[in-house]
Amino acid sequence: MNIEWDKLGFKFLPARSNIRFSYENGEWNDGKLHTSNEINLSIAANCMHYGQAAFEGLKAFCCKDGKVRIFRPRENARRLNSTIDYLMMPHFPEDRFVEAVKEVVKDNIDYVPPYGTGGSLYIRPVIVGTTPQIGISAATEYQLIIMVMPVGSYYKGGIKPVKAMIHDEVDRAAPRGTGHIKVAGNYAASLYPTSLAKKAGCAVMLFLDSKTHEFIEEFGSSNFFAITQDGKYVTPESASILPSITNKSLIQIAEDLDIKVECRAVSKTELETFAEVGACGTAVIITPISEIIHHDKVYKYDQENIGPVSKKLYDRMTGIQYGRIADEHNWMMEL
Ligand code: PLP
Ligand code: COI
Repeated sequence: MNIEWDKLGFKFLPARSNIRFSYENGEWNDGKLHTSNEINLSIAANCMHYGQAAFEGLKAFCCKDGKVRIFRPRENARRLNSTIDYLMMPHFPEDRFVEAVKEVVKDNIDYVPPYGTGGSLYIRPVIVGTTPQIGISAATEYQLIIMVMPVGSYYKGGIKPVKAMIHDEVDRAAPRGTGHIKVAGNYAASLYPTSLAKKAGCAVMLFLDSKTHEFIEEFGSSNFFAITQDGKYVTPESASILPSITNKSLIQIAEDLDIKVECRAVSKTELETFAEVGACGTAVIITPISEIIHHDKVYKYDQENIGPVSKKLYDRMTGIQYGRIADEHNWMMEL
């Protein structure tokens, strides 16, 4: 194992082990650590044809005191089960999820980037229907695999601002579709829209609500937030965006810092009024948005830096995650 901690990006890097659970005959087995990164799958497996597949994303951090802690794993257990419900998959007990995350992190403890490198151990649970079938119905067998890998920053260049694009010809999620859960298919559906953004020199696509295209929803892999000229934290409320655990935490941090919070419909016409715009999520943490291109309109924010309010939120969030700031809300779970 020879990892250059300061050169990590957001890439798959095999670690020592992953933990796997199988569901058969109406129950989950006890689960086991595996060192292989391969699985055996029928060519007719339900997940391959009909996309009965979902995932989660969370992180473990090596803190200032040298201990490794996981950020809010129970929240991911709950969200995984809300996805599971919608996809007609079998519930996975929350406690077992949290224990499994701890077990796989412990077994891969030397893959957690050391304190001071700015990296973390990304934890990626994935659940797939494995029953061989050709008719469309929920599988009767499943695999839940929790893999881990050391990661650095999601976008190249660390916490530098990135550009975003709004496009009127593409959507991410239907109003009463699957935008609120972490279904694999949402990400397949975002590949083409994101390619349009990339062609225009933007790192991300900012999606509007699919029904009216009047309101801001979220980015392809993160939630949207903005800071108003009078210093409020504004983030869209919508039934078709993913309830981000990072955003939920930032809302709490904002309240702790006496920053007013508004979770509400956010009109695209407000884009020209915001002082700061950011993307937030486990992988992207807080990524400042320097520019949003919407056809012939370009909304510009700070081109070089993270804005002052976003920076305050970022410092507080990462301070808690790396154990530099008191964890008042008990978000960090010890192994
Ligand atoms: N929105 C989408 C579409 C995502 O894929 C993610 C990433 O998980 C988020 C938002 C942020 O959610 P969280 O903060 O829980 O990682
Ligand atoms: C995460 O932030 O954990 C995500 O799942 C986003 C992504 C890389 C799709």
